[in-house]
Amino acid sequence: MSLTTFVAADARFESAVSSGQRVGAKAVPASAQAKVTVPSLQQKKLLRQPIACVTAYDYASARLIDEAGLDLILVGDSLAMVMQGQPDTLAVTMDEMLVYTRGVRRAVRRALLVADMPYGSYQADDRDGIANALRFVKEAGAEAVKIEGGANRAGLARRLTDAEIPVMGHIGLTPQSVHRMGGYKVQGRTLAAVDRLRADALALQEAGCFAIVLEGMPRELGTILTAELEIPTIGIGAGPECDGQILVLHDMLSLTFSPPAKFVRRYADIGASIREAVGEYKRDVESRSFPTEEESYHLPAGLQL
Ligand code: KIV
Repeated sequence: MSLTTFVAADARFESAVSSGQRVGAKAVPASAQAKVTVPSLQQKKLLRQPIACVTAYDYASARLIDEAGLDLILVGDSLAMVMQGQPDTLAVTMDEMLVYTRGVRRAVRRALLVADMPYGSYQADDRDGIANALRFVKEAGAEAVKIEGGANRAGLARRLTDAEIPVMGHIGLTPQSVHRMGGYKVQGRTLAAVDRLRADALALQEAGCFAIVLEGMPRELGTILTAELEIPTIGIGAGPECDGQILVLHDMLSLTFSPPAKFVRRYADIGASIREAVGEYKRDVESRSFPTEEESYHLPAGLQL
């Protein structure tokens, strides 16, 4: 058991956030004060305020991300690759996604928490999709779900929104279609493909989606879709004109083991920091310079063995 803990999403943090006080040594940023909701994201689009989103899969990173004031946290099925070391996103199950989502839920106070519906949880039939989406809300505290696909998922998106579950669409390079696409390839590079993606986006908006992820498509198409849609577009490899951006946390922190996609910007090299820190610990253990006298417990005064 670690004695170093975050105080689990405690009343202290909650009341400090609502009153704008300090937590520990740190000021709670002003951005942490207003809960992000589906309507507030829509408002951001209207006000042309960029929407900052990132993935998270565990309590500690979700808590740090939330405290940094991000608008939306996605428990992405990318966790199959970055947390489980799988070659693609296809094998991760509903039960696994629920475990990760619950950990993130305990940490997140301000951001909108979206859970990614894993492959197989909604493709076979809409009833499965609704039942599984309800599990994310009821058993893991998700505030919305994300599904991949375009016009072919509009019926499901409509039924989910009818069931009071906000839905985020996801079109373009949809990783759950990796076998159909023949790999992770930029989409929308022909006029026919552009027309299809425009129709997909409009169908999802019409079906009630509150936002759409645009992944792996030409900047020009990201720009057109963002202008045509009334709901926010969240880009990942779709250019800077999207209403918001999302990155996979492990990509932006260099916690991955293969060359990143073109759109990834590395904001830190946490991989190098971990290697360095753990290597230093190993050296300290081997040289017996850890732990020190100050890092040791003692018997009560007067008690001798
Ligand atoms: O699974 C995921 O992380 C995603 C984002 C990249 C949008 O779908």
